[in-house]
Amino acid sequence: MAEKIRVLLTEEEVDKKIQEIGEQISRDYAGEQVHLVCVLRGGAFFMCELAKRITIPVSLDFMSVSSYGGDTKSSGVVKIVKDLDDSLAGKNVIVVEDIVDSGRTLSYLLEMLQDRGPKSMRLCTLLDKPERRVVDVKVDYTGFKIPDEFVVGYGLDYDQKYRNLPYIGVVEFDA
Ligand code: IMP
Ligand code: MG
Repeated sequence: MAEKIRVLLTEEEVDKKIQEIGEQISRDYAGEQVHLVCVLRGGAFFMCELAKRITIPVSLDFMSVSSYGGDTKSSGVVKIVKDLDDSLAGKNVIVVEDIVDSGRTLSYLLEMLQDRGPKSMRLCTLLDKPERRVVDVKVDYTGFKIPDEFVVGYGLDYDQKYRNLPYIGVVEFDA
């Protein structure tokens, strides 16, 4: 099906916002280190750009999760497809996500990671669709609150396409 992409947030707007979040994190954790945890694949672009703008020591790790069978939608239970390489014990963990939608995946994930004994844990997301929230999730750093539209770019995909767009766009389908 043919689709068009309408720009919602320009590259300049996104870059500026990531710079601001990077400065904020550097201030909040001054004198300490942060450990960024990326949820693949969507979070990768944002995390790398964010890490470049943090001025305190940073370490990075990656994980990949997928939904668990049929009743996942209601339970939010996720399966770890690729686990983190490093322990979280004693670290200032910041989970970096592309978007918080229903919040199901993240609330489950955050609870699971909390059991690994981090010194602190926060959540940072580039985009938030508050209207779509089903499970309450505390977001500590938010780039942009956006309306309930399907977006792509900056790591977000539609059918694995458009992750590489340097801006955030809304997918529009031809009638
Ligand atoms: P949830 O918060 O558990 O519903 O899951 C959020 C996940 O759904 C994100 O990490 C994305 O992978 C995906 N997602 C949600 N909204 C969008 C969107 O607008 N575009 C692309 N992916 C999305
Ligand atoms: Mg994601």
